Parts: sequence; C-alpha cells; structure tokens
Amino acid sequence: MEIASQPRPIEAQRFASDKIQQMLAHWNRTRLSPGYPVADWADHFEHEARMRYLEAQFLEDLRAEVQGWAASAPTHVDGFVQWFEDLKDVGPGQGDPLFPWLAGDANREQLCWFFEQEAAGEAGFDDLVAFTQIKLPESAKLELARNYWDEMGRGNPRGMHGPMLAALADTLCVRPTIEGTVWESLALANAMTAMATNRAFAWHSVGALGVIELTAPGRSAMVAQGLRRIGLSDRERRYFDLHAVLDVKHSEDWNREAFRPLVAEDPRRATAMAEGALMRLVCGERCFARYRKHLWATVSHAPGA
Ligand SMILES: [Fe+2]
Ligand SMILES: [Fe+2]
Repeated sequence: MEIASQPRPIEAQRFASDKIQQMLAHWNRTRLSPGYPVADWADHFEHEARMRYLEAQFLEDLRAEVQGWAASAPTHVDGFVQWFEDLKDVGPGQGDPLFPWLAGDANREQLCWFFEQEAAGEAGFDDLVAFTQIKLPESAKLELARNYWDEMGRGNPRGMHGPMLAALADTLCVRPTIEGTVWESLALANAMTAMATNRAFAWHSVGALGVIELTAPGRSAMVAQGLRRIGLSDRERRYFDLHAVLDVKHSEDWNREAFRPLVAEDPRRATAMAEGALMRLVCGERCFARYRKHLWATVSHAPGA
C-alpha cells in the first residue's frame, strides 16, 4: 500500500509514446495472425529480433516500476492469496472515479469513445490464456483450460466472449483502430501480449490474467449500468453483464486452482505473479487517467458540472 502513493513518473517513461505503442500493436497483430512462410525470411527474423528487443525493454521498464511493491507480497500460500485479493481495494487504478461517472452521467458519445478505446486495447483474453497455459503444472493448466472453455462459450458460438464484444462494437457503431487508440490502452494490450508470449514472464502472465478476473466485475457492472441508461437492451450489453458476474467465479477459481498450488510448489512464483498483477494494474490505471482527461476535457461533461 505504501508504494501505491509513491510518485511514478508516467510522462518520463520511454514507452509513453503513441509511435512505439502503435508499432508494438501492429507487430503483435501481424505476428499472432495465422500466416504463410515468407520469401525474405532472413529479413523477417531480423525485424522480429528488433521488435522482441523493444518489447523486452518495455516489459522490463514496467517491471522495474512495480518491483518494490511486489517484493512486499508474501511468498507463502495464504499470505499471498490474501495480499492478492487486497489488490481489489488497494491496487493501482482501483476505485477510479471514471466508472461511477460512466454508470451515471456519461452520454452515448462518451460511452462509445470509452468502449472504442477499451475494445482496441483488448488483447483477446482467450488467446492470452491459451498462450499462458503452455507447460503449466496440472492444476493451473486445468483451471486455465476451464476458463478458456468459458471464453469459448463452452462450445456454443453465441456464447463466445470475443464475438460478443465485437457485436457490442457493432451496436455502438464503433470501429476500433490502432491509430485511433490512446497509447495507454495500446500499452495495456501490448504488455498483456508480451507477458503471455514470453515464457520468462509466464508466472507474470498468470498473475496479470488473475488480477483482471479479480478487478473486472466491479467495473463491468458500472459500464453495464451506463449502457442500460442509454437504452441498450439486455442482449446488447450482455458482454458487460456477463463479466460482472462470471468473473467473480473465475477469480475465486483462479485463486484456488492456479495461485495456491503454484505458490505451494515454488514460492518464487508468488513474487513473479505479484509483479505481473501490478504491471497490469499500472497499465489500467494509466488508461483510466487518460480516459478521464479526454472525456472530462469539456467542463460541462465533468462530474458535478
Ligand atoms: Fe471473458
Ligand atoms: Fe473471466
């Protein structure tokens, strides 16, 4: 908690940049899309190496910001889970005033802008889980598999979370693009993708995904409230209504089936998972601050105005 109030020099960061985050976002989109062998494969790998180096620097910068705080996380099972659950209240970005405002005051245009930013910054929870579960110990692997299956609508295309989010974008007439997205939101997606795809950050990714499940329900409920207020039907706002409820269960299951056995087997994982969770929350905190700055720029839109 004491580290939460320490100043973090956001503007001074090397990676607080539209250009760099857009570059990483385009690279992620391309490299994760199914493709074909290329003729200039040697050049391709040189580019890949440069981008991976950039990605590693970005991750290490982010990690350096939270290392002090993460070092205070207990490395025994009960203590760690309690510390982790407390992040819901004391973690970076928790209780941000943006969300009550979205629930009660934002107009349709403002909710659309918020959604556009969030959708573009969404790295695809299903794919992040799929990357992360590779070679995990059994209990954690099974929990990630169950979570993935929920993301897949348990085999029902209409229940798949990704298409549900895309349908909501259609309803709101929003077309998210990398260029139209603030760097903070791209950085969040780039950090999640980086942790999930680099095995040296596998435990970090387990922590980062787990903290999404922990902290998403409260925010989802408030976004759903805002969408209901502007007239969206139950079916249209289902993505947020669903996550307001389902992620409470996901979080409990993740803590019990993934965190507990992982920390019991190797306490070092607690520190790595704590770092990953805080890295994710710091990225989210920056998004909320930037969204507020944009959305509240007009005095008449500010709370209490
Ligand atoms: Fe989901
Ligand atoms: Fe979930």
